Order: sequence, then structure tokens, then C-alpha cells
Amino acid sequence: MERIPLPLSAAAPIPGDSRGAPSFDGRPGVADRFGRALRDLRISVTDRCNFRCPYCMPAEVFGRDFAFLPHDQVLTFEEIERLARIFVGLGVGKLRITGGEPLVRRDLPLLIASLSSISSPDGSPVDLTLTTNGSALRPLARPLARAGLGRITVSVDSLDDAVARSMNGVDFPISRVLDGIAAAREAGLSPIKINTVVRRGLNEASVMPLARWARDEGLILRFIEYMDVGTANGWRLDDVVSAEEILSMIDAELPLEAVSANYRGEVAGRYRYRDGSGELGVIASVTRPFCGDCTRARLSADGHLYTCLFAARGTDLKTPLRDGESDTELEDRIRAVWAVRADRYSELRSEATDRLPKVEMFALGG
Ligand code: GTP
Ligand code: 5AD
Ligand code: SF4
Ligand code: SF4
Repeated sequence: MERIPLPLSAAAPIPGDSRGAPSFDGRPGVADRFGRALRDLRISVTDRCNFRCPYCMPAEVFGRDFAFLPHDQVLTFEEIERLARIFVGLGVGKLRITGGEPLVRRDLPLLIASLSSISSPDGSPVDLTLTTNGSALRPLARPLARAGLGRITVSVDSLDDAVARSMNGVDFPISRVLDGIAAAREAGLSPIKINTVVRRGLNEASVMPLARWARDEGLILRFIEYMDVGTANGWRLDDVVSAEEILSMIDAELPLEAVSANYRGEVAGRYRYRDGSGELGVIASVTRPFCGDCTRARLSADGHLYTCLFAARGTDLKTPLRDGESDTELEDRIRAVWAVRADRYSELRSEATDRLPKVEMFALGG
């Protein structure tokens, strides 16, 4: 299979990157065909979103008449909690709530409260977190924190109001997202991470202002390479601003040094400012694939299990759940799916893979 030319030399590892020969991590759990453990579950609580970011849900494709999941196809909070307990029993130590936009799901703090009561078989707490576009954080930050949410990640593509409004596709003012971040801080959510997708021609000029702002505010900023997720965004390699390019831009003004990963399989390559003033990350799925250590599973809002962000199909867990299967039977299903997992899409990315059918990112939870 022909590989697309990469803007970086694939031989030069990013220092601090967690990649390495895949092998099981030795802790209790299940391993896939490459020895990767199941450690991280991303739970999409809705496929709906109030934004229309062009790299995810372009407005021309996802218009007013787009058919999102009907209510009865979406897992209830009780169903999500039950599945989450089974996953934690299998060795998952991190639960990340995603969407669409998770905060559009009514009564989300009730789900957080039930998930925060789950602990690992060895008694250790589960890392419970959430990725949001920040638009509804002001009223929800405190209820979420009270319900047991530990930390939060907010997407911010630019501090420039005009650029931000065009990148969220619905003319939403950046000031309200920033106010949501302030509310998260007031509510004690910590750390607060910021995700920025960089797309050529749209927001490269926002990179430096974002880096300075995040450093001054003590936020952990992660720049994400624009990815070919789904089939609606019209992705082209030319639109990707590589991690190398982003890091060089920042390093020229604010010198950086690499830091080692927080945990095995962390998607972000970590850096800190040489003057000790803060941390920055790059998520380089295109130029530096990290499939070798990928321990992530995704549960979609309609109860399907996906073993890769670029999957074409998932495994239905909702039907057996609603048909009355026991926890043990559901656990066996999940084990069986994980045991045969051989996904490594980003490592195989090519013009051929780009044309494969793929589920949209908002439908399987980012
Ligand atoms: P931490 O727990 O804080 O380390 O968060 P995280 O980086 O695992 O989660 P987050 O939701 O912030 O992920 C940031 C972005 O990285 C996602 O929105 C995706 O764009 C990308 N990403 C996360 N996981 C994967 C993955 O498994 N494969 C690929 N290709 N990209 C991923
Ligand atoms: N490429 C990279 N990241 C994306 N996200 C959504 N679509 C893409 C894409 N095409 C990210 C958003 C957000 C998270 C939910 O997914 O920036 O941080
Ligand atoms: Fe919505 Fe997030 Fe997708 Fe933007 S990236 S359209 S905020 S789900
Ligand atoms: Fe994991 Fe698939 Fe992303 Fe590779 S492309 S890191 S296998 S989710």
C-alpha cells in the first residue's frame, strides 16, 4: 500500500513521545492482537452538537434536516453506567465523556454522579473527564464538578473572534467559550486542557496567541493535526499543519523542550517551555501515528463499540443489553471484540485508506 508523503521524516522520533514496540502492559485486563490493553473508554452521550466545525460537521452536510439518532436509540444513563462498570472491571482506568457535544445531553451531571461512583477492581479511582466545545460550560461547570467530574478539556480553535466564529460554523462568540473556561476554573476542575485543531488557511495565525494565552493562564494546550476522520470534511493532506511546523513556530519565540509522557499510550507528545512557565502538547495522528500504544475503545451514543476512531462499523452492545444479557455475557462480548482487534489506521494511512467508508467523528465520540 502506498503511503502518502509525510511532511516529517518518519525516522526521527519526537522526544517524549510514548511510542514503542506494542506489548501488553502487564496489569490485569484484556489484550488485543498486538498486545495492546483496553485501558481507556470514550463514551459518546449524544451525536448532536450545537456547533458545525468544518473539520467535523460541516454545515453544508449537516443541515437543519439532518437526521440525528432518535431518542429511543440513545443509551440511557443507566445503560451507560452498566456498560462502564463492565469496562472498568476489564481494566479500563479512564472514562472520557464525549459527543457530539456532551453538554447538550439533558441532566448530564446525573450521569457524572453515577460514573464517579465506579472504582477499579483494585479500589483505585477511575479518571473521569469530559471533552466539550465550552459553549454551555458557564451554567454546568459547578454541577459537573459537584457530581464528581475531575478535569475537563475544552476545544478552542482561535482567540480571534472572527476566526473562532467561522471555525465553529454557527457564529458563536469566543468570549462565551472563554467565560465557560473561567467557570470551569471557578468550579475547581483541574487541570483544564485546551484542544486546538489547526487547519491550514484557517487558523495558523492563531497558534502563537493561543500558546501565549494558555501559558499565561496555566492551561495545558494541545494542538491537534487536522485528521481525515469521517468522510464529510473533504480532508486533504495539504490542509494539515504538521506538529513539527507548529512546534517550530512556537519554539522560535518561546523555546521548548520535550517532556516524557504522563502515561503509556498518551496521545499528546508533551513539551514544556524552557523557562519553566508551562506545558504544551501536540497530537500528531497524521505525521506521527500513535497506534502502537492505542488502548482506547469508543462507545457510541447508540451503544456500539468501536475499536478505532477510523472504524467503518462497530459492534452492537445495545441490543443484547436491552434483550436482557447478563453482565458476564456482555463482558464476554467485549472481550471477544478486543481480542481480535488489529486496528492501526493512522499507521496505514494512505490515499487508499482515505477512501474507505468511515463513521463520522461526532457519531463515535472523537
Ligand atoms: P488526556 O486524557 O488528557 O490525555 O486526553 P486525550 O488526549 O486522550 O483526549 P482528548 O479527547 O483530549 O483527545 C484529543 C484529540 O486527540 C481527540 O479529539 C482526537 O482528535 C485525538 N485523538 C484522541 N484519541 C485518538 C486516537 O485514538 N486516535 C487518533 N487518531 N486520534 C485521537
Ligand atoms: N481532526 C482533528 N481533530 C478533530 N476533532 C474533531 N474533528 C477533528 C478532525 N477532523 C476534535 C475537536 C475536539 C474533539 C472533540 O475532536 O477539536 O477537540
Ligand atoms: Fe461539535 Fe466538537 Fe464536532 Fe465541533 S468538533 S462540530 S464542537 S462535536
Ligand atoms: Fe487507535 Fe485507530 Fe487512532 Fe490508531 S488510528 S491511535 S488504532 S484509534
